[in-house]
Order: sequence, then C-alpha cells, then structure tokens
Amino acid sequence: MVFLGPPGAGKGTQAQQLAGRWRIPQISTGDMLREAARSGSPLGRQVAATLEAGQLVSDEIAVTLVEERLNREDARGGFILDGFPRTVGQAAALDGLLARHGREPLNVMAIEVPREELIARLGGRRSCPRDGSSYHLGNHPPRVAGRCDLCGGELMVRNDDRPETVEKRLQIYQQQTEPLIAYYQRKGLLHRVDGLGAPLQVVERIIRSVEG
Ligand code: AP5
Repeated sequence: MVFLGPPGAGKGTQAQQLAGRWRIPQISTGDMLREAARSGSPLGRQVAATLEAGQLVSDEIAVTLVEERLNREDARGGFILDGFPRTVGQAAALDGLLARHGREPLNVMAIEVPREELIARLGGRRSCPRDGSSYHLGNHPPRVAGRCDLCGGELMVRNDDRPETVEKRLQIYQQQTEPLIAYYQRKGLLHRVDGLGAPLQVVERIIRSVEG
C-alpha cells in the first residue's frame, strides 16, 4: 500500500496502525531521511538542510533508499509506503521496481484533509525521533507528557513544522505530489479516504476501502 496525502494528512499515523495490524513494515522515507540527517555525515548535513527548507531530496536519493528497504526480507509479504512516491519520477521508478520483482499491484490511498486542519495538526504535533511515532498536544497526546508511548523516548517538535516551512511543504505537495492522484487514478489503483475524524475511524475507512 502507498499513502498519498499532504503534510499532516495522517499518513504516518495511519501507516503505523495498519503496519501493526497487518504485520508488515511501515516504510517512511521521511523517517529514513531524518535518521540520515541526524548521522551528521556530509550527506546527512545536506539532507538536514533540504528537510529544514521544506524541499524534496532528489529522486535518486529517495528511490535508492526505498529500493534498498524493499529488498529486505520483512518486506516480502507486503509493505506500507509512507511518503513515497512523491514525484511522477519516483512513481515511475517504483512501477519499474515492482515489475522487476513480480510484485502485486499497489493499493494507493489518498488521504483527504482540508488545509486549515493540516495546519492545526502540524502546529500541535510532537514526534518521537527514535521510532517516528507522531502525537498531537490536543487530539492525540502521549500517555506521559513529553514521552513516546512506544519507546519512552523524549518527544520533539520537528524542524520542518515551523509555520513558514509548513507553507513551503504544502506548496511543494501541490506542485509535485498531487499530480500522482491522477497518475494512480488512470491506473485504476487509487482509493480516496476522508482523513477527518479520530485516527481509528480513519483506519476503519481505509480497511473497508481496500477489503470492501
Ligand atoms: P515526511 O516525514 O514524509 O513528511 P510529510 O509528508 O510532510 O508528512 P508529515 O509527516 O508531516 O504528516 P503525515 O501525513 O505523516 O501526518 P502524521 O500522521 O504525522 O517527509 C518529511 C520531509 O522529508 C519532506 O518534506 C521532504 O523534505 C523529505 N522527503 C520525504 N520523503 C521524500 C521523498 N519520497 N522524496 C523526496 N523527499 C522526501 O500526523 C500529523 C499530526 O496530526 C500528528 O500530530 C498526528 O498526531 C495528528 N493526527 C493524525 N491523524 C489525525 C486525525 N485523524 N485526527 C486528528 N489529528 C490527527
């Protein structure tokens, strides 16, 4: 499954839930890139600057990361891609990769959320840098303030959740990623899901849509 949707739509939240239920890996290019950024290597520093500016890393970097991850044993029985593909070039590369490995067609889930709600969600988000979990101060607080429910790690505000960077990310989504909705619709692989409501309600909608 692929999750498509603007920043704050709930891709990570939904992917984490479903990966747990279906026992398949959640593959988040955002998490992988944040990990690379934290490494402090020369490439990591370049990635950190790109993320902080709200820009996309090159298709080459994103595709290489995903290809390596999909080749791992735990992705053989299925996977959830969260944040990839993000450009038509990445989608074409993914098509090639799946065809070469004789994999089944994707389910592509476009999560739809109005802009004001996206901004409110990103403004209140707290994230776990260790395992990538996402919380919200208002509507999805952690059990212990400031601590991740899953690993107990300290929760942080993401560098790219500042209002001016959020604006940039929304623009880039519209320009570079939204065209993928039509791309997958033409292929007959697209499901649309209303992303408003409690996360568990959204999960149920997604399951009904694919199993339906
Ligand atoms: P990435 O980490 O993928 O960020 P994003 O796509 O901007 O998405 P977000 O993580 O902000 O939001 P989300 O939709 O996952 O929502 P979440 O579940 O967290 O990428 C970061 C950066 O990496 C990119 O900007 C780019 O630079 C780079 N990058 C990544 N992939 C790339 C690629 N393929 N190519 C090139 N560059 C790439 O939820 C958000 C908040 O809302 C949370 O607080 C959550 O608790 C809350 N929430 C979730 N669901 C609900 C709900 N139903 N109701 C109320 N609140 C909710």
